[in-house]
Amino acid sequence: MTELSLQLLRPDQLDPNGLAVTNPANGSHVAAVRRYDNDALKTIVDAAEAARHGWAARPAKERSDILRAWYDLIVARTEELARLMTLENGKPLDEARGEVKYGAAFIEWFAEEARRAYGEVIPTHAKGKRIVTLRQPVGTCAAITPWNFPLAMITRKAGPALAAGCSIIVKPAELTPLSALALEALAHEAGVPRDLFRVVPAVKSSDAGDLFCTHPAIRKISFTGSTQVGKIIMAKAAGQVKRLSLELGGNAPFIVFDDADIDRAVDGAMASRYRNAGQTCVCANRFLVQDGIHDAFVEKLAARVAAIKVGDGIDNPSGMGPLVSDKDANRVAKLVQQAEAQGARSVGKVPGVPEAGAYHAPVVLADVTTDMEIAHEEIFGPVAPVIRFTDEAEAMRIANDTPYGLAAYFYTADAARQWRVMEGLEYGMVGVNDGLISTEVAPFGGVKESGFGREGSSHGLADYMNIKYCLLGGLG
Ligand code: SIN
Repeated sequence: MTELSLQLLRPDQLDPNGLAVTNPANGSHVAAVRRYDNDALKTIVDAAEAARHGWAARPAKERSDILRAWYDLIVARTEELARLMTLENGKPLDEARGEVKYGAAFIEWFAEEARRAYGEVIPTHAKGKRIVTLRQPVGTCAAITPWNFPLAMITRKAGPALAAGCSIIVKPAELTPLSALALEALAHEAGVPRDLFRVVPAVKSSDAGDLFCTHPAIRKISFTGSTQVGKIIMAKAAGQVKRLSLELGGNAPFIVFDDADIDRAVDGAMASRYRNAGQTCVCANRFLVQDGIHDAFVEKLAARVAAIKVGDGIDNPSGMGPLVSDKDANRVAKLVQQAEAQGARSVGKVPGVPEAGAYHAPVVLADVTTDMEIAHEEIFGPVAPVIRFTDEAEAMRIANDTPYGLAAYFYTADAARQWRVMEGLEYGMVGVNDGLISTEVAPFGGVKESGFGREGSSHGLADYMNIKYCLLGGLG
C-alpha cells in the first residue's frame, strides 16, 4: 500500500538522497523527497512572480473551474492520500480520511468564493466625483505549514491564494512533505499552472523562511506553527512590510459549569482533546471544572479515555496513533512526570501502548493547579489536565490568564451565561456546548500571541486581497 500511495507523487518530487520521511508508528523509512536550497528557491519565487499576472488576468470563473477540478481530484484520490498521511504523520486512517475531506472542502469553498470577490461603489461625498473600490490579489505569497495537518493546513492557504489570483509557494513541514507533494501533483494535473503553485521541501527550513521574509517579490507570508517562530517571521518580514497571517500556539481552556450536560461535555472533551492524539492548536489544553460537577466529570472522562485503542493507524483505523515523533512523545512524557511530581494524579491511563514507535498513553490528570507548568504549556499530546474552580469569575480569570488567544470551549445550560462567557473569553474562536469548531465556512484564527489573520469563510479570501480605492473625478 505504501507503493500505491507513493504513486500520487511525480518522479521528480522524489530523491533517494533527499529528505527522508519516517513512519512514527514504527520508525520505518517511507520515502525520500527532493529538497530545495535557497538558489533553487529564488528561481522558483521569480517564476511564481512571473506566472501570477497571467493567472490574475483570467476570468474568475476560469480560476474557479480549475480549483473545482483540483477539489474533484483530491476527493477521487481520498484513500491513497489518507494512507500516505497515516504513513508520514501517524494519524489513524479514519482521521486521515477526515482530514482529506476537511482539506478538500477549503478548495471547494474557495473555488466558489473566487467568483464573489466583489468591490464596492461608495455613495459619493462630492458632486462630479465617484468612489469605487477594487479587490486585487496581494501578489506572490509564501506559506510555511505544520506537520499536524499535512494536507488541510495547505489547502486553506493555497485555496484562497489561488482563488484571489495570487501565486503561492509552500514549504511543508520536514516531517510530513508527502501529502503536500501529492497535493501539488494533483493541482498541476487539475490545470493549476506549474509555476503558480509549488511545494518546496527545504534543505534548511530557517533559510527558506529567511528567503521568504527578504525576497521582494513575496508580498505575503502565511505561517501556521509556534508563537516563537511566528515572532521571528514577524520581525524579519517587517523589513519589507510584508502582509502576514500567523496562526500560532494556543492554550485552550475547556470550562465545564455545574449546570452543563455532563455527557455532552465528555463527548466534546474527547473530540477536542484527543483528536489527532492531542496534536492540534485548538485542542482543549486545560479543563476547568466547577466543584459541583468535578468528580463526576473526571470519572466519566477517565472511563472514556481508558477505552481508547492505541496502535498503528493503518491497522487501528478508528483508534489513536502515535505522536509525530519520538522527540514529541518524550516531551509530553516529561510534562506529565513533572505534573505528577507536583501533585497531579493520573487517571484513566490507557494500559499497554506499543513499546516501539512514538506512542504516549492517553491520560487524564486530576488535581492540577494553575501554578503547574502543564497548565501553561501547549501540551500537543493526549493528556487532559483538570483544574477545579468554584465560581464563574474564577473560571474566567483562569481562562484568560494566558498570552494565547486561539480557541476556548465552555459548557453550560444557562443562556445568559452563554452570552456572558462567550463575550468575556479573550479568544478568536469559542465553542459553546461543542468541542469541534473547525470548518471551512467559519473564520479560523486567534488573538493575542496566537496570531492574526483568518482562514476559511469569506474572510479567508480577503486575507489574500488588497483593497484599492479609486476616485473618479470630472464627472460633471
Ligand atoms: C491547527 O491545529 O492548527 C488546525 C486545527 C484545525 O484546523 O482544526
